[in-house]
Amino acid sequence: MSGETDLKTLLESLHPVVRDGDYVYALWPHGRPLSGGIEAAVREAEGLTVVLPRDEADSLGLSYDFVAAWITLQVHSALEAVGLTAAVSAALTHAGISCNVLAGFHHDHLLVSSADAARAMDVLRLLARGVVLRTERPEDRPEILELTARAFSVSPVTGEPVAGTPLEVELLRSLFDCPEYLPQFSIVAEMGGEIVGHAISTRGWIGDLELLGLGPIGVLPHFQKRGVGSALMRETAARATAAGEPGIALLGSPLYYPRFGYVPATSVGVQPPEPVWGDRFQLLTLPGWPDDVRGTFRYAAPFNEL
Ligand SMILES: CC(C)(COP(=O)(O)OP(=O)(O)OC[C@H]1O[C@@H](n2cnc3c(N)ncnc32)[C@H](O)[C@@H]1OP(=O)(O)O)[C@@H](O)C(=O)NCCC(=O)NCCS
Repeated sequence: MSGETDLKTLLESLHPVVRDGDYVYALWPHGRPLSGGIEAAVREAEGLTVVLPRDEADSLGLSYDFVAAWITLQVHSALEAVGLTAAVSAALTHAGISCNVLAGFHHDHLLVSSADAARAMDVLRLLARGVVLRTERPEDRPEILELTARAFSVSPVTGEPVAGTPLEVELLRSLFDCPEYLPQFSIVAEMGGEIVGHAISTRGWIGDLELLGLGPIGVLPHFQKRGVGSALMRETAARATAAGEPGIALLGSPLYYPRFGYVPATSVGVQPPEPVWGDRFQLLTLPGWPDDVRGTFRYAAPFNEL
């Protein structure tokens, strides 16, 4: 049975699916007959490596380090297809996600760290649509401002069309030039040379504690509901975690942001800059979050001029 070989067609039909549970790589004990739910095996001069569900490895007493999510690319790729693995691993590498690739007769399979699974799925879904995430470059700014004007042409608060230029455009222009601007936290989603989404986070504070304030985030109206916003949210959190930021605060819909782990800021002892914001002021705590934080969040200076 032959499979698809054209790279563009392959990428458009990647259809990544995550299997249930965690998987691990383990060395199979020499001389022991193979048993259990082994999903893949590689024989080498040094011994036999097996890939199997983590709970099977635990019950067999096998040791392991790497705990992985198993993602299958459902596209039926021909074994001789050129470039699919390179394109997939380049996109994941770009996002700072390492992966091990296993090729079966029908499909390619990726084992990525369980902690990176959701973000790897974002990257793969976006790759299928030709979308990549990258850090903003200064020459992108006019296009980002235009995108922001279009994204906020309907107020997210009232649902009504906005007369004139949305205030998020002026806010963003000021954020690009303020001392609280952090280049690696201005992230664009690009498709075929067009910027279709953007998220920015800038320096904010609770007392002396430095953390991030996220916003504005916008996606071009005709690209919304295709996962671009979610990918920008998760990319921001991953970069913040890697940079040792303790948390991210934002003002937004309590129906959207909890899916990324945000909680009402007051539930972790943080008050919004404006008390009336209530539960719309939300916070994502990251591994460096100190337990004893109490206080009111302060955004970068341009937010005070709104
Ligand atoms: C909010 C925004 C960035 C999300 O980007 P996106 O690419 O459409 O998001 P995704 O495709 O990843 O997620 C879409 C999901 O989020 C939901 N969603 C988006 N905005 C929402 C909101 N304000 N309230 C509740 N749910 C919302 C969608 O209904 C959809 O839900 P589903 O997955 O259950 O179908 C984008 O809709 C946008 O630019 N909106 C206009 C500007 C704006 O409101 N920015 C945020 C200000 S706080």
